[in-house]
Amino acid sequence: MKHLLKLLDWSTEEIISTLDLADRLKEEKKKGIRHPILEGKTLGMIFEKSSTRTRVSFEVGMHELGGQALFLSSKELQIGRGEPVEDTARVLSRFLDGIMIRTFEQSEVEALAKYGSIPIINGLTDFCHPCQVLADLQTIREYKGSLEGKKLCYIGDGNNMANSLIVGGIKTGMKVAIACPKDYQPDAEIMAWAKENGDFVCTDNILEAAAGSDVLYTDVWASMGQEGEAEERKKIFKDYQINDSVVAVSNEGVMVLHCLPAHREEEITAKVFEEHANEIFDEAENRLHAQKAVLVKCMID
Ligand code: CP
Ligand code: NVA
Repeated sequence: MKHLLKLLDWSTEEIISTLDLADRLKEEKKKGIRHPILEGKTLGMIFEKSSTRTRVSFEVGMHELGGQALFLSSKELQIGRGEPVEDTARVLSRFLDGIMIRTFEQSEVEALAKYGSIPIINGLTDFCHPCQVLADLQTIREYKGSLEGKKLCYIGDGNNMANSLIVGGIKTGMKVAIACPKDYQPDAEIMAWAKENGDFVCTDNILEAAAGSDVLYTDVWASMGQEGEAEERKKIFKDYQINDSVVAVSNEGVMVLHCLPAHREEEITAKVFEEHANEIFDEAENRLHAQKAVLVKCMID
């Protein structure tokens, strides 16, 4: 068994073999081939935040692999009334074969892994979103043929997506450039790690970051839990947008990705979004294939 708490914990080999498995599962699903390798297994899915893609991809993924998934809203669990995560981890480990959790604090995910005895999968925290980035890397590889040497430029808030894209990109040999306001940079330790381990820059100059990019990526200006800052953030981030000028300085055939949900005319113009809708919705579809690969890697391998 294996946890997926953050991408930094996984080796390049583990990431690439997960992408290979995701490709295989996608291909076989198209041919109608099913692998009930998680038959008899149950995944608990704890949600302390909203979700469309993560919930549905894991629930459908478990079903397609022959197992079942339980949706556990933190509002209805005793965890929402203060039962310690350490106790929840030990109880759920007696019932379930794995837990996927979406929450605020990364430390809660780490505590589940420490006190539980089953695989724990991070379905998004304020710190990172590893499952999304595995689907993103799968999509980039599909369109560009390889990851090594390709330039990924992320424009926007230095948030959970930025942190995971830096790690996933650098671990797979991509060049990573981040454009964000000075006070909204990604995690300092992740940036230091990236500088030591690959080709990484973080700047407040959008066009400089985007120049020569093969992939442009953005995410919302205000993440879940930051709704109260939304109006202030609209002012701070107003120039951090994927639009025609950003696309123009990128490489010919640049792809544009967004983890979704998207706010048109904020972090991305409606025009660029629609011109790249095929890539963005292939990326969303790949959540299913990539998450099935994660389930197999964590619960079987
Ligand atoms: N991208 C993503 O994680 O979507 P959801 O919030 O809908 O799960
Ligand atoms: N940064 C966003 C990602 C949503 C998938 C958030 O945390 O709300």
